[in-house]
Amino acid sequence: MYELIKTKDGSLTYRNTEVGATYRSLNGAESESRYVFFEGTQLKRWPTRWRVLELGFGTGLNFAVTCREALKAGVELEYVSLESTPMPRSLWLVEEPWKDLEFGSARRIGTVQLTLVDRRWQDFTPTEGCFDACFHDPFGPGPSPECWERDCFEWSYRGLTKQGVLATFGASSGARTAMKEAGFFVGSLKGAHIKREMTVASKSEQAIAEAWPWKRKR
Ligand SMILES: C[S@@+](CC[C@H](N)C(=O)[O-])C[C@H]1O[C@@H](n2cnc3c(N)ncnc32)[C@H](O)[C@@H]1O
Repeated sequence: MYELIKTKDGSLTYRNTEVGATYRSLNGAESESRYVFFEGTQLKRWPTRWRVLELGFGTGLNFAVTCREALKAGVELEYVSLESTPMPRSLWLVEEPWKDLEFGSARRIGTVQLTLVDRRWQDFTPTEGCFDACFHDPFGPGPSPECWERDCFEWSYRGLTKQGVLATFGASSGARTAMKEAGFFVGSLKGAHIKREMTVASKSEQAIAEAWPWKRKR
């Protein structure tokens, strides 16, 4: 069910043969992760602590990339990730000690804390106004339509701080409309690798001022 693949930047991902999708881009798993989620949410704006809410832990690569960046920057990282269908932990693309965690409980190593919740986002309520970034990283609307609708973006809207930013590889007008309906300002950025666009969204227009505004008037 899980096929290991080496992507164009040398990093690894998996194909889920049951879903018929890869967890990251074949053009570069790690570079996509860094560009879309870490850079897209502009976590570096915050000098001492980064709080991340993720939809879709998958292989754990987004966590691994953010963890390395946090250690490099000398900031605390609090990372909460939702995963409806966890892969066997031996396959996760994270450093070994993280594989010991207990689902639903915070695992802390030094300045980094990971809470991996083995539930659907629909069955978990994030603490209100607590996250600087939301990594919106489910499968696409084909396999996971419920992750691209208004209710789902209301869920992330609830979790984010006023200046917090949601980032996603998704760029469909359906998803962007759902984000706007949830109350977000929505912006478009160039996508990773050969993709034309990706999307960022925030409660604050100013927080995504570097993005091309997408039907910004509400
Ligand atoms: C694109 S993959 C995530 C990739 C991952 N962030 C990484 O870096 O490898 C999408 C993940 O979302 C999960 N997912 C799909 N629907 C979900 C839901 N309703 N709630 C939580 N997770 C969901 C899937 O099981 C899958 O592991």
